[in-house]
Amino acid sequence: MQFQQIDTQSIDALMDVFYAKVRNDKTGLGDIFNTRIGTGEEEWSAHKKKIANFWQGMLLQSGDYNGQPMKAHLDLPPFPREFFNTWLGLFSESLALVFAREEDRANVYMRAQMIAQRFQFMLYESGH
Ligand code: HEM
Repeated sequence: MQFQQIDTQSIDALMDVFYAKVRNDKTGLGDIFNTRIGTGEEEWSAHKKKIANFWQGMLLQSGDYNGQPMKAHLDLPPFPREFFNTWLGLFSESLALVFAREEDRANVYMRAQMIAQRFQFMLYESGH
């Protein structure tokens, strides 16, 4: 089902589509998530709820996300920088499935790309 606007419902749908792809990914990206989050439905529901809140904050100025995204990624075991391209590729595919309007897809993608760039700088260039 495609959505005509960015709201909590379409963000939830994006979480379902995107993280289903991530969980099934066989390039190595999927392993990082499945190892950290687990393979059970409850763990994944909790993860999706948290990230939906994060996106609500970004896109709708709502939700109650108050985590530490930088720290969460610094604490992961090291992984190749190329995984960010895989992540963005799956995210882009998911946006095309969920959002009917190109404008919405581009808006969300642009924000994801900016954050991905910041994470990459932190992980691979800042000498943390
Ligand atoms: C290759 C790229 C990435 C990998 C491997 C990755 C992996 C992960 C994993 C395994 C977690 C769960 C951490 C935990 O619960 O302890 C997580 C959390 C999270 N990720 Fe990513 N991620 C990536 C890119 C991104 C990007 C580009 C964004 C944003 C656009 C993002 C946003 C978040 C947020 C908001 C959390 C929750 C942090 C918290 O408050 O606990 N991630 N990520």
